[in-house]
Amino acid sequence: MSSYSNHPAVTVLGLGPMGRSLAGAFLAAGVRTTIWNRTPGKDRELTALGAAGATSAEEAVSASELTVVCVVNQQAADAILRRAGVARALKGRTVVSLTADTPQRARDTARWAAEHGIGYLDGAIMTPAPSIGTPEAVFLHSGPRDLYERYRPVLELLGGTHTHLGEELGRAATFDLALLDVFWTAMAGYAHAVAIARAEGVTARELAPFAQGIAAILPPLFEEFAADADDGTYSGEINPVTSAASTMAHVVEVSESHGIDAGVMRSVEGLARRVIGLGHGGDGFIRAAEVLGRH
Ligand SMILES: NC(=O)c1ccc[n+]([C@@H]2O[C@H](COP(=O)([O-])OP(=O)(O)OC[C@H]3O[C@@H](n4cnc5c(N)ncnc54)[C@H](OP(=O)(O)O)[C@@H]3O)[C@@H](O)[C@H]2O)c1
Repeated sequence: MSSYSNHPAVTVLGLGPMGRSLAGAFLAAGVRTTIWNRTPGKDRELTALGAAGATSAEEAVSASELTVVCVVNQQAADAILRRAGVARALKGRTVVSLTADTPQRARDTARWAAEHGIGYLDGAIMTPAPSIGTPEAVFLHSGPRDLYERYRPVLELLGGTHTHLGEELGRAATFDLALLDVFWTAMAGYAHAVAIARAEGVTARELAPFAQGIAAILPPLFEEFAADADDGTYSGEINPVTSAASTMAHVVEVSESHGIDAGVMRSVEGLARRVIGLGHGGDGFIRAAEVLGRH
């Protein structure tokens, strides 16, 4: 590439599907981009597009003011960043971790970075790799606001929306985990629904439009239940837990009549019964959040 943008040079560590997409978006925006991956050979397409392929992580981080690390988990990120040569080379530079992991691991790495004179932001990507560089991408960030503001223009070259959730380093990971919780439990419910529908002779394609209808009920419920959860109101006027538990029992019954593991719904029903047992049967299901939080 002959001319580069005014943005700082960026290094991307990790060339899995997401790391490759991130590096590709920086390159497409004209950013001088250096890339490195633990296993060699994953950088060819990107070097053909103008990325500089580094032969070591130390060389890679030395090439740029800003390093974005996106690997499988924080343990893998730490295995790269905390090597003595890499840590030395990062001193005075900034790392943005877009690696998914727990809030505590984000805080631990941030503490380590501070001890080594490295600027550190933790982020989470809430959309799949093909969304990067498009308006659909969703990025969450946490860490020092001045550092975020300094690198926001270059991070925004990755497309989509970027939200700074606060200075507390664990916040991006907390949002990430909570949202993954919503996503995967919903997906488990959907997989289970497909299994019992099929057992009753209904195809997944037949069910899909109606499943979409059910999913569409959720967004306004999230809003309404958020107010209940934060204010402790738990109104069950429309659908009290007692009524919900009875429909859950039907799902378990049909599932088990076909020999299909009803574990997910059994635990949902168990939770509803616990709420009822504690005397909250007239409340809305979100009362479960409070019951779950009791130790
Ligand atoms: N893919 C998506 O659509 C998506 C969406 C949202 C968030 N994310 C998040 O983005 C991150 C990266 O995901 P991904 O899809 O690119 O692929 P991934 O399979 O989660 O991670 C692959 C990357 O991790 C590296 N890695 C694994 N163990 C390592 C170790 N011990 N030391 C150094 N590097 C190691 C791999 O290097 P090698 O090639 O050497 O194995 C490769 O670069 C993850 O945290 C994921 O949760 C991904």
